[in-house]
Parts: sequence; structure tokens; C-alpha cells
Amino acid sequence: MITLTDIAYVRSGVADLGTAVRFATEIVGLELAVPSEQGVAHLRADWRHHCLALVQGPSGVISSGFAVADTDALEAAETELERSGLAVHRGGDIESRSRRVREFIAFDDPFGNRIELVSQQETITRPVAHSRPAGITEFGHLCLDAPDVHEAYRFWSTRFNARVSDWLGDAACLMRIDPVHHKLAVFRGDGPGLCHMNFQVATIDDLFRNWHFLQDHNVEIEMGPGRHPQSTAIFVYFKGPESFTYEYSFGVRRIEDEASWVPRTFDPAEPGSIDMWLGPTTRPVTQPQVRSGQLLVSQDAPR
Ligand SMILES: [Fe+2]
Repeated sequence: MITLTDIAYVRSGVADLGTAVRFATEIVGLELAVPSEQGVAHLRADWRHHCLALVQGPSGVISSGFAVADTDALEAAETELERSGLAVHRGGDIESRSRRVREFIAFDDPFGNRIELVSQQETITRPVAHSRPAGITEFGHLCLDAPDVHEAYRFWSTRFNARVSDWLGDAACLMRIDPVHHKLAVFRGDGPGLCHMNFQVATIDDLFRNWHFLQDHNVEIEMGPGRHPQSTAIFVYFKGPESFTYEYSFGVRRIEDEASWVPRTFDPAEPGSIDMWLGPTTRPVTQPQVRSGQLLVSQDAPR
């Protein structure tokens, strides 16, 4: 059993780096780190050095990163994944530096989503210099696609410490790795990809101010504002460049009494099961996984 201690980052390939960075800063409100690497933009939302790396190159998600406790835990995870038959790539020094981690390993989940496990992701103590006052407090969760969410849960719950918090029928599995209702979600989709990346905001006022700001700037709202009955979070999903869906949310449930929580199942076709305010519901647009053709060759070196 591999213990994931947190989510770490999303790495996404973009054909037009300038446009993607402008959106991530001027619209989403993330801080752009001082450029340190040709063709890579590191975006910060919280204590992490970055939680989103935009990489000039083929458009599509490159990888989703999760933290493990330390170097020993990473080594044990590597052995365990290899024993289970997965091909595992150990990141080199340059790749690790680009991710601001001491070490990492990469593998593909059974559906083709590239996952990275990292040790010692860099922390920054300086307050985040948000590009605009969106109220972002934290990288909240990430959501992957898989054709069968029950199979996906089997993968995440048998090899890792992920527990299901709630099901949306066959459409979604919401999983926790700590008291937050979900830090990892899997939505049903045709192929591998990143369904969306979530940022928590401090207040309900931030959420609604952001919704108006997005509309004023002609950003495509995919869904919301609404409220998910599972996590009780108030949400708005919106589309960034190159089919990258961002989500702001406020008020996610915490499951403090682990022993007494019983996962619930909601029928996605039932009114109110996705948005308890009964607003129009649309599935967020997924950014497909970049495929290199060859397993686990670094796809993100600038070319
Ligand atoms: Fe979400």
C-alpha cells in the first residue's frame, strides 16, 4: 500500500505558452514564478513552489503529481509498482529540478493517465503574490478521466490509500487521501486526460466575484455557480486555453470522523445530484493526456 500524503502539481503541455500563462495569471490569479527554465512556466497558488507547470510543446496534460512522505517511501513505492507489473520511470536530475522535487517516479495508470509520485516538493514561505485578488487559498483537487470509474477506484484504493467519499453512479468517483472530501476524482471519459484542476477560494464572495470577473472577461463558464451535494462545495467551472478546465470552489466538506463516514451513491440523472441549486449541468471539458508513443520518455524537455 502506497500512502499518498497530498496532491503536488499538474503539468500541462501548451502549444501557445504565452496565452496559457496570461490566462493562468491575469484570469485565474495564480502567481508566475520567476522564469528559470526555457519553455516552462511555474504557477503558484499556495505554499508549494508551484502546483501548475505549463510546458511549451504538444497540447495536453503531461502528468499529475502526488506527494509521498519521503525518499524511503518513494523507493518503496517504486518497488511495489514494479512488482505489480507497471513500468516505472525514475526521474532524472533535470526533470526533478523542473518539478521542484528532490526525486520522483512516473508511471501510467491502467487507463493511460501519467502519474508522478514525488518526494520533498519545495515549499515557499513568502506569501503568494496573486496576479489578481481571486481569493485563492489552495490547490484543492485534481480530476482525471477513465472509461470505468469503478475500475479506477479499484486501482487507487488497492495500490494507494485513496478512499471513496461518494459516488456519482457510474459517472464519477470522489476520493480522499486526507480529511478533505476529495483531493482526487475520476470522471468517466473516453480516454485518459485531466478533467479539471481545482482551486479553493477563501469566501463565498470570492466565488461570486470571480464568476462576474470571468463573465466580464468573456471566459467560457462550463458550469455554475452551483453547489455539489457530495462535498457541499460551491463551484464554478471555466475553460482556459487548450481545453484546460479550471474550477474555483468554496466550502468543501472535511471528513474528520473517518470511521463513521459511509460513501453515498447519487444518480447523476437525478435533478440536484450534481448541482443542488438545480442549475444547468454540463460535463467539464477534458484536456487529453499527451502521448509520446513510448512509455515514460520525458515529454517535457523544451524542443
Ligand atoms: Fe472539482
